[in-house]
Amino acid sequence: MNVSGVSASVSAARRAHVIVCGNAKGGTGKSTFAMHIAVALLRTGSRVATIDLDTSHQTLTNYVENRRRWVQATGIAVAMPDHRNVPHHRQFADSEGATFTAFAEALAGVDAAFDFVVIDTAAGETFAGRLAHRLADTLVTPLNDSLIDLEALGDLPPAGRNPPAGSGYARAVAKARDERRRADGRLIDWIVACNRVPVTAAGEAKIAPRLRDMASRLGFRFADGISQRVLFDDLFAAGLTTFDEYDGRSATSRPNLAHLAARQEMRRLMDQMRLLHCKPSKPGAEPHVRRSDAAITPAL
Ligand SMILES: Nc1ncnc2c1ncn2[C@@H]1O[C@H](COP(=O)(O)OP(=O)(O)OP(=O)(O)O)[C@@H](O)[C@H]1O
Ligand SMILES: [Mg+2]
Repeated sequence: MNVSGVSASVSAARRAHVIVCGNAKGGTGKSTFAMHIAVALLRTGSRVATIDLDTSHQTLTNYVENRRRWVQATGIAVAMPDHRNVPHHRQFADSEGATFTAFAEALAGVDAAFDFVVIDTAAGETFAGRLAHRLADTLVTPLNDSLIDLEALGDLPPAGRNPPAGSGYARAVAKARDERRRADGRLIDWIVACNRVPVTAAGEAKIAPRLRDMASRLGFRFADGISQRVLFDDLFAAGLTTFDEYDGRSATSRPNLAHLAARQEMRRLMDQMRLLHCKPSKPGAEPHVRRSDAAITPAL
């Protein structure tokens, strides 16, 4: 299957702004970020579709399902993304054709109907992940505040060897960018943010200086980090995010200082992603999300 050909034909007709959460490294916060980004955008009044490409774990699908259950249990309405899951076909596990068909079905109709599509990808190198990266307008890569995660992004040079090379993932992003530019002349805005930064680090990740150094070389924007907070696991179980309104009816959703601090950090990440600068969803139409320099923060 020709990936670049597929990307070109899909992106040519595309209107919705595609946000892909990706990292070859597992357990960095891709699914957590995907749900938070989707809910943050929903709260601005945007039409948001979510697609889960992690066929093995389906974390985003489970997250959305937990959210549905929470609504049913509490009777409290919270905004829901229009979610699509790319199911795991056992017999087609290695088939690029089957993956492409399932992904194309998930994408069907989203261009016209939504302002944003948030795609969660699996760790590792997958065909679906490669397709998604070529469709991204914005690529968000969370990584843990560790040298192991850093090395998965760009090689750490042995003493005296400079500059370090990009990792396999960085090279994959470079290839996706190249194919995208050739397909429709558009650029992928790549944002890297540290996740699970120790609270004691006061927001400054240990690997921040090295990441700042890597940013210009690998071509990403380095966003402020998200602190390590146990509430993220509780929020997943409830299907909620730091952006959801709380009324105290659910133990997991009662606001406290940790919630507010986590929400503040996620808002900052949303601001730094600059999604309000996206183009209108229909040619000539007013942008559904206001095109201005205003931060997204007041809407959340
Ligand atoms: N800032 C955070 N503080 C504490 N826990 C977090 C934070 N962000 C994510 N987590 C937790 O870390 C775990 C991994 O997060 P998540 O599933 O979002 O990562 P992932 O990159 O999607 O993983 P995978 O590669 O397996 O798909 C989850 O239990 C999640 O609740
Ligand atoms: Mg995940």
